[in-house]
Amino acid sequence: MILGLETSCDDTCAALVTREGVVRANVIASQGLLHERYGGVVPEIASRQHLEVIDSVVDDALEHAGATLADVEQVAVTRGPGLIGALLVGVSTAKALAASRELPLAPVDHLHGHVTASMLGEDPIQPPYLALVASGGHTFLARVDDPSEYRVLGETLDDAAGEAFDKGARLLGLGYPGGPEIDRLAREGDPSAFDFPRSQPGEGLDFSFSGLKTSLLYTLGTEPFFAHGAKKGSVPDLAASYQRAIVDALLARLAQGLAREGLERVALGGGVAANRELRERAGELGARVWVPPIELCTDNAAMIAGAARFGRAIPYPEYLDLDAAARL
Ligand code: KG4
Ligand code: ZN
Repeated sequence: MILGLETSCDDTCAALVTREGVVRANVIASQGLLHERYGGVVPEIASRQHLEVIDSVVDDALEHAGATLADVEQVAVTRGPGLIGALLVGVSTAKALAASRELPLAPVDHLHGHVTASMLGEDPIQPPYLALVASGGHTFLARVDDPSEYRVLGETLDDAAGEAFDKGARLLGLGYPGGPEIDRLAREGDPSAFDFPRSQPGEGLDFSFSGLKTSLLYTLGTEPFFAHGAKKGSVPDLAASYQRAIVDALLARLAQGLAREGLERVALGGGVAANRELRERAGELGARVWVPPIELCTDNAAMIAGAARFGRAIPYPEYLDLDAAARL
């Protein structure tokens, strides 16, 4: 089994995955509540919390899998991109665990984990495929021909899709993270009540979401009833219309990417892939779509151990000077 660790942002994660891609344990200790009052992730708090809980999270994962360290044949860890202090906790822990048993250690690109999350489980997607990764920090389309690598075809020029959800939720006075809040409220609203822009920048497959957020800001400013808190009933309509605009933009690029690349399979990943409207409407693409279970969409270590199956592991003791990297 491969033991994976992921600490790039605000979730402390450990997982055990077999060489065949069977997830034996996937433990996620979310720090969401610690950061909620600040309306975003506070890097220093994140690092300290990772340090507090990482050992118990690893123990939990081993226990869930009915395993001990003796059953682990390789350690995998997110090397970046992410918050440097947070990454360092995972990388240091992984080095210590691997070195204590002289195991090989695989440094993994967090985004490679999201891109290949659909290769886990009983019905793994097979390359070639088109991957959409939409999270709080990243939004891009990639082509996968060989599971050990991916080619970015287009990416956001400004905000990530998850960031658009989070900033929109903040403007609407909802909690953090905003995606799940908007997702929930949107179910009670009318998605055609407000007409928000669906930006399609340039000729290629890039995304842009900052104009959408500004448009929401202006809409709120020009709704005097809303400013006075009178017509609360319009919040679900705003949430539904705002979500519709984000999902439309993502689906439009996916459709263009499939046509341009001549691909027939799609994998969704990243926290935004947990969105109900996106999951339901992905069927409109006319391709076969893999959407991992939600715990493999948001940050997790199973996708890191899974991606490590396709990369190179560094033999002991060559990784002792391995460093985390905020950017790769
Ligand atoms: O992948 P992830 O857990 O962490 C990052 O690497 O960023 O993604 C978190 C992002 C947040 O922006 C959150 O608002 C968004 O994913 N998200 C959602 C939903 N669940 C999480 N966005 C829309 N709908 C959801 N149901
Ligand atoms: Zn992520």
